[in-house]
Amino acid sequence: MNKVQVIGTGSYVPPKIVNNNDLSCIVDTSDEWISSRTGIKERRISEGENTADMASKAAMKAIENANIKVEDIDLIIVGTATPDSFIPSTACIVQSNIKAVNATCFDISAACSGFIYSLDIATQFIRSGSCRTALVIGAETLSKIINWEDRNTCVLFGDGAAAAILKTSDIEGILSIFRGSDGSKGKALVSDAIPVKNPYVSKENLDKQMDSTIKMDGREVFKFAVKIITQGVEKLLEDSNCSLEDIKYIVPHQANFRIIESAAKKLGVSEEKFYLNLDRFGNTSAASVGIALDDMVEQNLIQRGDKILLIGFGGGLTYGGIIIQW
Ligand code: UT7
Repeated sequence: MNKVQVIGTGSYVPPKIVNNNDLSCIVDTSDEWISSRTGIKERRISEGENTADMASKAAMKAIENANIKVEDIDLIIVGTATPDSFIPSTACIVQSNIKAVNATCFDISAACSGFIYSLDIATQFIRSGSCRTALVIGAETLSKIINWEDRNTCVLFGDGAAAAILKTSDIEGILSIFRGSDGSKGKALVSDAIPVKNPYVSKENLDKQMDSTIKMDGREVFKFAVKIITQGVEKLLEDSNCSLEDIKYIVPHQANFRIIESAAKKLGVSEEKFYLNLDRFGNTSAASVGIALDDMVEQNLIQRGDKILLIGFGGGLTYGGIIIQW
């Protein structure tokens, strides 16, 4: 089995900053409510860039930071719930944009767990010898599926993209992986695609309406998130023979600081152990863990040999985590 290392990260967020006061001009909300209930202060919103545009920019930064040639990349995986198109995949558009001519490309749909699932899949490809150098991306233009009249959801999300390069290595950089799904709770977080419309559609299905905007049972997702972070952290530590003291940072999906407060309490660990930047970017779904990771790299918070625990959860419902040794 080949060993795998993360050798570079990158991220990109659109320049337009929308703060909580800006949102209070659109819906009946306030900076006080959003800050105290979520920890979010501002988010980046696309002024027209789509998911593949942002994904390509994050990818180019990761390639530069990893110091590899674009032609070395033989796998591109994009985790996204907001692709540019049904066909082609966002990964294929990225391939064309960055000219990664030797890559096999596909998207995966795991909502906010998309970056973790993609890291996991790329790890398995490299371990098995199916590929050597993978570009993993989490990218979202959530602003295009937000219901901008729904104060319950429109204040939570932001746009952005993050990327990581994984490569075969002499040193093992992936110490444990945790993953799972619970489709029975899928209705807790929904964004519909398009209805069935064809010349043969039955009468009762003819007028079926579908709506792509996000609908969420916030409390249900909140409970699920706290449970999964707690279980996931414990399982990842057990599988890697690590203790919480061995972990420099836990990098969670950036949804709500109160979720982290509750999970930290249950785990008996200081909130300081969790890296959060949701105050600046909100919840960017599949991009959030990667944006946080790249943010930490840019601030020099991670040194070679450090152990970092990533943990994500989201629509599906899906969840996953990874311990990386830097
Ligand atoms: O990537 C995973 C995606 N989702 C999540 O991680 C979400 C997890 N859930 C959460 O973060 C929280 O449940 C929310 C932030 C979504 C909501 O917080 P909450 O403390 O569970 O609030 P709530 O939904 O119970 O709403 C409390 C009140 C309600 O008013 P009433 O019915 O008590 O009069 C809401 O209508 O707050 C009201 N409210 C707002 N008020 C001002 C809901 N949204 C807003 C808002 N501004 N933006």
